[in-house]
Amino acid sequence: MNTNNIVILTGAGISAESGLKTFRAEDGLWENHPVEEVATPEGFARDPDLVQRFYDERRANILAAQPNPAHEALARLDASWDGELLLVTQNIDDLHERCGAKRVLHMHGEGLSVWCQSCDARHYWTGTLRDGPACPVCGEVAMRPDIVWFGEMPYEMERIFEAISRCDLFVSIGTSGAVYPAAGFVQEANRAGARTLELNLERSAGSHFFDETRLGPASELVPEWVGEVID
Ligand code: APR
Repeated sequence: MNTNNIVILTGAGISAESGLKTFRAEDGLWENHPVEEVATPEGFARDPDLVQRFYDERRANILAAQPNPAHEALARLDASWDGELLLVTQNIDDLHERCGAKRVLHMHGEGLSVWCQSCDARHYWTGTLRDGPACPVCGEVAMRPDIVWFGEMPYEMERIFEAISRCDLFVSIGTSGAVYPAAGFVQEANRAGARTLELNLERSAGSHFFDETRLGPASELVPEWVGEVID
């Protein structure tokens, strides 16, 4: 079957070689910061300063990171692919965009975006929120990280399921398959009759759903796979 429409899902593993921590490794983010405290609306209500500090750190780490060959390869694919392509990322870093990827969808929000709870405006933001800056639009001190926390609905789910229903190739890169709805996308792709490929450092919770799983670092597997697709 020839490939026309591709959906790619990326997770923290694709940014690991850029120096950004993943979540569930032994030194992962959730080891040092209980999810309930820093990645839920309840945690934010309970201790906003702790949460703002956590995301200030994420913002600083993102700005200090550089894209790696995996991000660059996907950007090359995006630029040269004349079929449909949707790069759905669970990551809040901007490393896909920084090397030129255009058709990117951040389903869990973006670390460099902040969201005003008073007027709903979103702003590109690289500094801190801990000193309570006023929203540039409405002037209120009511901005939170523009991150989809546990218990909140991921962004643009309709658009994602629509793209999966039309795809003939679904590729999952650097994700543990631990968190839904992203972990269920491969099953949707199978239902749509697509070929499914997983590129990951180790077998994931969803590996058995994939037609093919290749194990290794993204910086090697992704350029190799993109080379197969483009050539
Ligand atoms: N190359 C490829 N894969 C890697 C690499 C690498 N260099 N390093 C780690 N991995 C793999 C790990 O084997 C693991 O399967 O990346 C995966 C990372 O898994 P998680 O830490 O669970 O991150 P992710 O799957 O993105 O988590 C999903 O959970 O907590 C939420 O919102 C958070 O978006 C996140 C979601």
